[in-house]
Amino acid sequence: MNPLRAQLSADRTPAPATVVIFGASGDLTKRKLVPALYNLMLERHLSRIAIVGASRSTLSDDAFRQRLEEGVDAYSRRRPIDRSLWDSMAPSIHYQPVDFADPAMFRELKTRLEAIEKEHNLPGNRLFYLSTPPSVFAPIIRNLGQAGLVNPGEDPFARVVIEKPFGTDLASAQSLNHQVHQVLEERQIYRIDHYLGKETVQNLLVFRYANSIFEPMWNNKYVRSVQITGAETLGVEQRGSYFEKAGILRDMVQNHLFQVLCLAAMEPPASFDADAVRDEKTKVLKALRPVTGRDVDDFVLRGQYTKGSVLGRDVAGYREEANVDPESRTETYVALKLGIDNWRWAGVPFYLRSAKRMPKKVTEIAVHFRPAPHRLFGDARMAHLEGNVLAIRIQPDEGITLTLGSKVPGQAIEIAPVSMEFRYASSFGVEAPEAYERLLLDALNGEPTLFTRGDEVEASWRFITPIHEAWAESETAPFPYEAGSWGPPEAEALLTDGMMWRKP
Ligand code: BG6
Repeated sequence: MNPLRAQLSADRTPAPATVVIFGASGDLTKRKLVPALYNLMLERHLSRIAIVGASRSTLSDDAFRQRLEEGVDAYSRRRPIDRSLWDSMAPSIHYQPVDFADPAMFRELKTRLEAIEKEHNLPGNRLFYLSTPPSVFAPIIRNLGQAGLVNPGEDPFARVVIEKPFGTDLASAQSLNHQVHQVLEERQIYRIDHYLGKETVQNLLVFRYANSIFEPMWNNKYVRSVQITGAETLGVEQRGSYFEKAGILRDMVQNHLFQVLCLAAMEPPASFDADAVRDEKTKVLKALRPVTGRDVDDFVLRGQYTKGSVLGRDVAGYREEANVDPESRTETYVALKLGIDNWRWAGVPFYLRSAKRMPKKVTEIAVHFRPAPHRLFGDARMAHLEGNVLAIRIQPDEGITLTLGSKVPGQAIEIAPVSMEFRYASSFGVEAPEAYERLLLDALNGEPTLFTRGDEVEASWRFITPIHEAWAESETAPFPYEAGSWGPPEAEALLTDGMMWRKP
């Protein structure tokens, strides 16, 4: 398909294919991946697919189908389940036990795939989805290669989607890229970041480049600072042992928030071609002013939640959570002050923060514009106007709000902030597809724009890793903050341009 059409058109039915999910007995498969494939079928974006689950556990096809059906029933965007559609999909769902370290089992997988494809008259296109712990990404890919399952041809195609996290620091990301590239060509690799599949994140591109009024102001002449927030009410839930090693900087910032930052700050690409877009995103990451050694404490602040109350419910502190060290120094809150050293953004601070156990779930970008240059109405009247703010709400309550100063009706000149709002829900009245629907469809269509490229991932780790190194050597612990608050009060000191953190 013509690449531009493949990206822009809604009618993007990919060629029939087999989706092979490694880690098929895990939660992601049941909650997200298979419901996404089901919704794509329901909305006729897919013609024919087979789904093959591959995990260590022994499971029959029927037991696997049953498990997935429960998943669709409970988690699908569109419910209740359409029985006749599910009944037509179920026969092409199969399960094959695979020990990821055993090359012989990959040869068996190959034989099984050939039989399944013959049975369902599928042409041999394969999308391998690695929904496994990262420690087995490399062995799976190596074994796929040895079994001859990922030849680089396009007809039939073999592509590999790799879940996060892609590395835990610069060295591990480089090593993983190296191992993956020994088997696959970059164009076969789809490193997933589900934030890029969110409608509102994609709308950042449309908002910036399909309109002409914002781009002339999108620079240091007009923008005073930018705040990007990724706040969650959730704690670490059942994932204490994972989170202990990860921390919020790895879990949310290196991937999701940096992707949002890149789309907000990048230069206009010359085309909507995957590499043109990813080149520009990578340039943003490369232009981030490094924060290393002693500087880390001046530009990065970490916190950890103590017990408190979130959405009216009493919750435990991080150190009391299951599988968390009672003396843990893992951060559940992080705030960063970033500089982007390029022509457009010189001198404009980008403040990023992400945390667990905040008062509400919200992801937003707030662009704070400079105040009007001349205080025509006098300092006193204009003092409480902080300048126009454009808040792009990624989730929930998706939309865009522009705050303006307006005259309060009456004989005097009184000025008050008012807002102009666009809301997805009221403007379109349709439900957006889930991130995984969009991303699976793109991967099946061979459309990598919304996936991270190898050099891009390395560029983000190149910035993040020195922060972890400095923390590892530091004597200090994260600042405590009460669960249900907006984070440690000390975080205010990071904002040096007279601004405060927003409480969206
Ligand atoms: C995941 C993180 O990648 O993103 C989770 O591992 C986090 O800790 C989640 O909760 C947030 O995603 P979303 O789409 O709910 O904002």
